[in-house]
Amino acid sequence: LEDLLADGVEGRGVLVRSDLNVPLDGGAITDPGRIVASAPTIAKLVEAGAKVIVTAHLGRPKGEPDAALSLAPVAARLSEELGRNVQLAGDVVGSDALARAEGLTDGDVLLLENIRFDPRETSKDDAERTKLARALVELVGDDGAFVSDGFGVVHRKQASVYDVAKLLPSYAGDLVATEVEVLRKLTSDVERPYAVVLGGSKVSDKLGVIEALAPKVDTLVIGGGMAFTFIKAQGSPVGDSLMQEDMIGTCTDLLEKFGDVIHLPHDIVVADKFAADADTSIAMTADGFDAGMGLDIGPGTVERFANVLRGAKTIFWNGPSGVFEFEKFAEGTRGVAEAIVEATKNGAYSVVGGGDSAAAVRALGIPDEAFSHISTGGGASLEYLEGKELPGLAVLGVEQ
Ligand code: 3PG
Repeated sequence: LEDLLADGVEGRGVLVRSDLNVPLDGGAITDPGRIVASAPTIAKLVEAGAKVIVTAHLGRPKGEPDAALSLAPVAARLSEELGRNVQLAGDVVGSDALARAEGLTDGDVLLLENIRFDPRETSKDDAERTKLARALVELVGDDGAFVSDGFGVVHRKQASVYDVAKLLPSYAGDLVATEVEVLRKLTSDVERPYAVVLGGSKVSDKLGVIEALAPKVDTLVIGGGMAFTFIKAQGSPVGDSLMQEDMIGTCTDLLEKFGDVIHLPHDIVVADKFAADADTSIAMTADGFDAGMGLDIGPGTVERFANVLRGAKTIFWNGPSGVFEFEKFAEGTRGVAEAIVEATKNGAYSVVGGGDSAAAVRALGIPDEAFSHISTGGGASLEYLEGKELPGLAVLGVEQ
């Protein structure tokens, strides 16, 4: 970004791709983390007198306008964050966006409507995506520039992330630069012990990262819904818990290969139903359970996991340990979070990887500053750690 600012942006159109994909409840934003993290790059461009056009997605609309996924609440929150009005275009690259783009004066900010309302954004056809990218270029004009700041989408080969970067002078925004710097620290020369905590519902989503990280870390702690497929693979019944039948064999292989670093829960909070007011009991993993569903790691496990984490010097955490949205099943996630906070106080380098874990931290009332870094990227940070090439970084020439 500094290179672009040094070139001068006053009066120039600058297209910024941000990741403003925030969780919504009705029309209300429940965690504005990504908006807050995206504001500084936009503010710098505003300060420098650019005509800023921001493009972003919200959710996964089906390539057509969907009122429930309008960026209107995001425009309002971004306005607050920047302390200036952010206009929202009524379309993506249509007549309203064009008219508004033409009317911008220096330092103005225009947010385009949800880029995924246009089916070309996520098209597998390069030519289709390029057409949308060209339409975006038209909005900023011939002397325009592109700033890629949506770290959470750099793993997507999409028009506003990848193709547009080929058509305009392109730069990494401050958020992308910071996120890459943090993740690089987790892949090179880490201070040991290095502990990774994984949770969330599906083993299949985390398989790549388990395979990539297990050989490199000292401890791989597994909680959340994904633990039940591992527990089943060890031969214990898990009642009606979340489980991926087709992944049992894979889990058996992983345990054979990496059994010395993988730590699984040894007790489980079992609920009679998936509800905040469910009746609960504690089951030992070795025995398993036939009825009910596991919704959190048990108290003994929290203690063991916390002990390991307190002693770690580098920690990456992705995925809650239980259904933290229900108070009765938040203890596991809270225990893990608090142990990481304590380790951080004692000098450990801790990174919380995006999405649900970031939301969990905030729902538990823990300030962001209690960790070394909270990533805005969920899938993007996992793919980075897997060692995959991320198209949105490669196109900028950013070294992973
Ligand atoms: C995310 O929420 O991880 C990013 O915004 C990417 O969203 P996507 O998975 O729908 O591409």
